[in-house]
Amino acid sequence: MRQPRHVAIVMDGNGRWAKLRHRPRSFGHHAGQKAVRATIEFCLRRGIESLTLFAFSSENWARPQDEVSALMELFLKALDREVDELHGYGVRIRFIGELSAFAPALRERMQAAMAKTQANPKLALNIAVNYGGRWDIAQAARRAAEAVQRGELTAAQIDEHVLARYLALAELPPLDLFIRTGGEKRVSNFLLWQLAYAELYFSDVLWPDFDSAAFDAAIADFSARERRYGKTSEQMKS
Ligand code: IPE
Ligand code: IPE
Ligand code: MG
Repeated sequence: MRQPRHVAIVMDGNGRWAKLRHRPRSFGHHAGQKAVRATIEFCLRRGIESLTLFAFSSENWARPQDEVSALMELFLKALDREVDELHGYGVRIRFIGELSAFAPALRERMQAAMAKTQANPKLALNIAVNYGGRWDIAQAARRAAEAVQRGELTAAQIDEHVLARYLALAELPPLDLFIRTGGEKRVSNFLLWQLAYAELYFSDVLWPDFDSAAFDAAIADFSARERRYGKTSEQMKS
């Protein structure tokens, strides 16, 4: 069975999961952590090389203050609790997004987790926080322009391959499979550039209910697809 090397997930549906149980939205975010653990373990078991999780978008700051605070508290606690275990499993943790917007305590823990795990050989776990696909493309363009200013690059040399080197997930395998839980069929400013030839999979399962059976279903769907990259089916078979 053909398996994706790089999977990205929009972990959506926590609020609705909580609402169904007449509980506050933060209860859903809390419950979603179990699905995050199960997803990471699934990738380690299957030898998936790279997992990119959308945890907090650049637009999520606009949510009610108490929800944003609850999420920040959750991130902080999760970092304190999980990093050592993930390190033990050989997971390389990376946070992608504009990290300068976070409180120093949180930022320091993110930096420490990245530094501690940077040489790990197993799963590359990328957690997108204060991330936006447009932000990613803009920061890549800015850094390429800075390289031009320093005389390391000429403007004429900037093509899609050069620009791609400045994007957040540059050195990882290309994105194979994009999963969104929670039933919405949209990208919500996630990995815009990297989605160019990813396979898209939408699940009605709410994120806290996403388990290995749901992940298996997504992988099976992916395996059955023919990726043509602009060519014809006949060309792909020969
Ligand atoms: C996704 O679940 C988690 C975050 C955006 C942080 P939601 O909180 O968006 O849940 P729904 O979409 O309202 O159900
Ligand atoms: C996308 O979900 C962001 C994350 C899952 C972190 P949203 O719930 O914010 O997306 P919209 O608002 O439904 O597009
Ligand atoms: Mg949502």
